[in-house]
Amino acid sequence: MSEFTSGAVSVPLAQVETPLLAVALAQGNVVPGSLAELDRAAGGVVTRAIGSGDFRGKRDETALLYPGSAKPERLLLVGLGKPGEVTRTAIRRAAAVAAKRARALGAKQLAFAVAAESRNGVPARDLGQVVVEGVAQGAWAFTELKAPPDDAKPELESVALVCDTKDAKEVGAGRRVGDAIAAGHRLTRYLQMLPGNVCTPTYLAERAKQLADRYGFTPTVLDRAQMKQEGMGALLAVAQGTEQEPRFIVLEYRGAGAAPPVAIVGKGVTFDSGGISIKPAQNMEDMKFDMSGAAAVLGTFEALGRLAPTLNVVGLIPATENLPSGTAVKPGDVIKSHFGKTIEIINTDAEGRLILCDALSYVRRFKPAAVIDIATLTGAVVVALGQYAIGEMGNDEALLAEVRDAGERAGERCWPLPLWEDYRDLLKSEIADVKNSGGRGAGTITGGWFLREFVEGYPWVHLDIAGTAYTDGEGPQQAKGPTAVGVRLFTEFVLKRAGA
Ligand code: BES
Ligand code: MN
Ligand code: ZN
Repeated sequence: MSEFTSGAVSVPLAQVETPLLAVALAQGNVVPGSLAELDRAAGGVVTRAIGSGDFRGKRDETALLYPGSAKPERLLLVGLGKPGEVTRTAIRRAAAVAAKRARALGAKQLAFAVAAESRNGVPARDLGQVVVEGVAQGAWAFTELKAPPDDAKPELESVALVCDTKDAKEVGAGRRVGDAIAAGHRLTRYLQMLPGNVCTPTYLAERAKQLADRYGFTPTVLDRAQMKQEGMGALLAVAQGTEQEPRFIVLEYRGAGAAPPVAIVGKGVTFDSGGISIKPAQNMEDMKFDMSGAAAVLGTFEALGRLAPTLNVVGLIPATENLPSGTAVKPGDVIKSHFGKTIEIINTDAEGRLILCDALSYVRRFKPAAVIDIATLTGAVVVALGQYAIGEMGNDEALLAEVRDAGERAGERCWPLPLWEDYRDLLKSEIADVKNSGGRGAGTITGGWFLREFVEGYPWVHLDIAGTAYTDGEGPQQAKGPTAVGVRLFTEFVLKRAGA
């Protein structure tokens, strides 16, 4: 399942023995000096590609060349965009484009280099990390549930970063982080992709326990009866319509003794039909992705297990299906949350906030230093920001900025939406403390406000990933489907907090 190893080599580009050498280049119309020797050995293919104007180095642009007597069998030029705008994100993306191409070509090995002139000051360590991250993004494919086609291409087995000897050590340190994130990415996308009949709440709990066994996390898994004892009335209200057993999953990673932990909370709706407020049939199958927040939390723990940072992290996953049935919760019903507030159910399709609010209440027992929840919460965030940004809300400016910075480094951008008091009024109920839907306007913000009603005593950020968790078409840098959004952001966040 798209598992590959990473390495580094320090030899001249013309000497790299590989089925595919990808070289990332910023926009320009001359062959950079660092490619002169390769170009000469390859009989001037690079000069011709650039001189003819066929390759200009624009973002996502590629040219596949056959470099004759140079050692690489194929040479792929990959555009990085404008020279002054080359960042970690641009390099990660170029690596993803190269890896996706490698997979289409059936190259089992990929060598990747960034032309020295194009690097724009990106440090060697970052280079090592983002190249591996990009390859993880681009090489991924889900093949588990389908017979392979007759002309099936082999998977990518390894990527080698071609770098100067002086950079090798730093590139290696970056690769270690990249490898861990790649593993997390793989797990998250796999879980996201699995259909609802396979990836049930019980299945998620089993995978969490596996991670706990492998890396020594402390797992806690509550079943329906234990949730009842805990008083998780909001989570139970969603779960009462399905025969699938719900699970409340907790993983504790201890890397810093008794210090207050960072908590990450992921929405784990393994299928969202809408419940009694049932969704239209069109694209309803995509609602298997409604556990993408939960998958991001588990993928982050995969990365944490490998990186062992000096920080404490707790992961919480409320997991259930949302189905209509004779026992399902109904519009108009009033239920009591774990926090104690009563909730009038207006729309049973606003179920994510119901399961999350009990988790945000439960998390108080850990005395967290910060809590970040991640959820495919609202269709409205797709309207507001499309697939290019996570909607970000919270109660603490410093934490909001810290999360936004992590997202910037991760190439998972967050964009703030205001939690002004005015919006809170939209959730006032005549019969209960709060209602679970504020109507059509400002749908993402009212979702955020609902959660805030259950946040007490800790800095908190809410990430709405309904627009970013999966794509409905492929791009040059990734296959259609799950994106594992959140794994890179959380890992960046944790590593920075741990001072790594
Ligand atoms: N899981 C959906 C949100 C969603 C929509 C995710 C599209 C991915 C793509 C969520 O549970 C939901 O149904 N939200 C409702 C809330 C409304 C009823 C207040 C929505 O966005 O319509
Ligand atoms: Mn819903
Ligand atoms: Zn949902």
